[in-house]
Amino acid sequence: MDGPPELRTPRLLLRPFRAEDVDDVFAYAADAEWNRYLGLPEPYVRRHAEEFVAACILADPDSHPYWAIVHEGRVRGGVNLRLRHPGDAELGYALARPLWGRGLTTEAARAAVAHGFAACALERVSALADAENAASWRVMEKLGMRREGHFRRYRPLRGERRDCVIYAVLREEWAFAGEAGTSAAGGENS
Ligand SMILES: CC(C)(COP(=O)(O)OP(=O)(O)OC[C@H]1O[C@@H](n2cnc3c(N)ncnc32)[C@H](O)[C@@H]1OP(=O)(O)O)[C@@H](O)C(=O)NCCC(=O)NCCS
Repeated sequence: MDGPPELRTPRLLLRPFRAEDVDDVFAYAADAEWNRYLGLPEPYVRRHAEEFVAACILADPDSHPYWAIVHEGRVRGGVNLRLRHPGDAELGYALARPLWGRGLTTEAARAAVAHGFAACALERVSALADAENAASWRVMEKLGMRREGHFRRYRPLRGERRDCVIYAVLREEWAFAGEAGTSAAGGENS
């Protein structure tokens, strides 16, 4: 199955995952701090990275486009849109810890959301984060998303139920903010 189209940002290439990305994924995902709010298996072994990459490759690019985030030639994270109802998608992202705090996730997510509004006829993009995952909901704020709610004890994580926050941006808000930041990829980058 073909994946989603490649997208280019100033510092990143977003492209479909490939089987050979397993080592790169394992390198950043076998990090307990990276997994703090994600709830992935612990210990995270290579088989988990293999299953993740396989799932990304097999995901339907129309209803669940999943991009590898390539920085300086290596896969360093992922960003995805999950279309739940017609016109409505949920954004997700994660980036390798050594690259945190440089605006790279915001850059990748902006490209994915721009693609969603331009190519998937979306009316709304939302995102959910643990209420204590401030770096994640800060990304949402920088994307121009608005906090819509605080869900109490919404998600189980390591034996406790955690509060989550939901953010969203509507098509007209995105257009008004003039968000873009991507171009069709042409050639190798990053
Ligand atoms: C959440 C995550 C994707 C952010 O990636 P990133 O590349 O560091 O994000 P950016 O650099 O684009 O933006 C992060 C923002 O959060 C801010 N931030 C970081 N830690 C923070 C904290 N503890 N409190 C408040 N703000 C914080 C940064 O300063 C930055 O904001 P600024 O540009 O206004 O200074 C990254 O930490 C990650 O991959 N975490 C593990 C996976 C995960 O939790 N994914 C999200 C699931 S909902």
